[in-house]
Amino acid sequence: MSRIALKLKGNNLALDALVKLHTNRQHHKLFSTNSQSGRLAGKVALITGAVSGIGKAAAIKFIENGAKVLLADVQDHLGKSIANDLGPNAIFFHCDVANEQEITNAVDHTVTHYGQLDVMYNNAGIAGTLAPTILDLELEGFDRTMAVNVRSMVAGIKHASRVMIPQQAGSIICTASTTAILGGMANHDYAVSKAAVIGLVKSTAAELNQHGIRVNCISPHALPTPLAVNGFKKLWGIDDEKVVAEMTYNSWEFKGARCEPADVAEAAVFLASDDAKYISGHNLVVDAGFTCFKRLNMSP
Ligand SMILES: NC(=O)c1ccc[n+]([C@@H]2O[C@H](COP(=O)([O-])OP(=O)(O)OC[C@H]3O[C@@H](n4cnc5c(N)ncnc54)[C@H](O)[C@@H]3O)[C@@H](O)[C@H]2O)c1
Repeated sequence: MSRIALKLKGNNLALDALVKLHTNRQHHKLFSTNSQSGRLAGKVALITGAVSGIGKAAAIKFIENGAKVLLADVQDHLGKSIANDLGPNAIFFHCDVANEQEITNAVDHTVTHYGQLDVMYNNAGIAGTLAPTILDLELEGFDRTMAVNVRSMVAGIKHASRVMIPQQAGSIICTASTTAILGGMANHDYAVSKAAVIGLVKSTAAELNQHGIRVNCISPHALPTPLAVNGFKKLWGIDDEKVVAEMTYNSWEFKGARCEPADVAEAAVFLASDDAKYISGHNLVVDAGFTCFKRLNMSP
């Protein structure tokens, strides 16, 4: 698909170029094959928290599926090196998601560099205070968790919408968590921040529906990324990362599979793709049933 270079003047986008782009894209869709290897062919995605864990796995899967990706993160050195490894369809851009201006810059850079923005994946997050009880919870820490895990996603949806509303198309994905669904699985600030993400997705999906923009979230079960392993190490007082990773995997059982970043990334590819064109406001839970059922402990 042809690229249209847009010159941004401040926050004003060239509306007629975007409308033309949308028309071209619709035309392209009619004649493109929706093959497994190219489910995101012709799409441009911005992924936050993209240089580790789930975000990195998503960047890899998105590119494998034909997308061009801007990796946004605060880990500059690692980010540049990963973007380099991923090849010509990846660029790194420094972005602290707690700062709205940096999100504005990342969105604008995506459009300037690639000519469009089709998918905004608000994924960056932190484990938060790790306060074990409500009495231990410092409210400054609570505010910081909300800034990185929720306020950032409000800003991400706002600035992606600024580009996607003129296009009248787009897919926005946010990372929530199973800790938002069941109580007792994380420190309060983290669990509350993730519950807020599910609310944010429903609220904004209701508005953006009329512009052809889908907003969804993904709620993964625990998986041993640096965020989880470092958190559990502190909580359990165990130094050995391998032991903590194994404990994390064993926190739920599904015969023949463990929760891996690539499993979450596959869910993101689906929601980003046109295969999910009638899905909005949804929380796609990737937990092998963990939040769906309890077994009766009644063996003879
Ligand atoms: N690992 C789990 O068990 C688990 C489960 C459910 C949900 N999640 C969520 O998944 C998302 C990704 O986490 P992960 O598990 O892949 O962890 P991770 O530590 O592997 O990756 C998190 C990434 O976010 C980046 N980041 C942190 N603060 C940032 C900021 N202010 N601005 C920009 N980037 C920032 C980090 O540099 C890192 O690259 C988070 O939202 C997390 O809450 C994780």
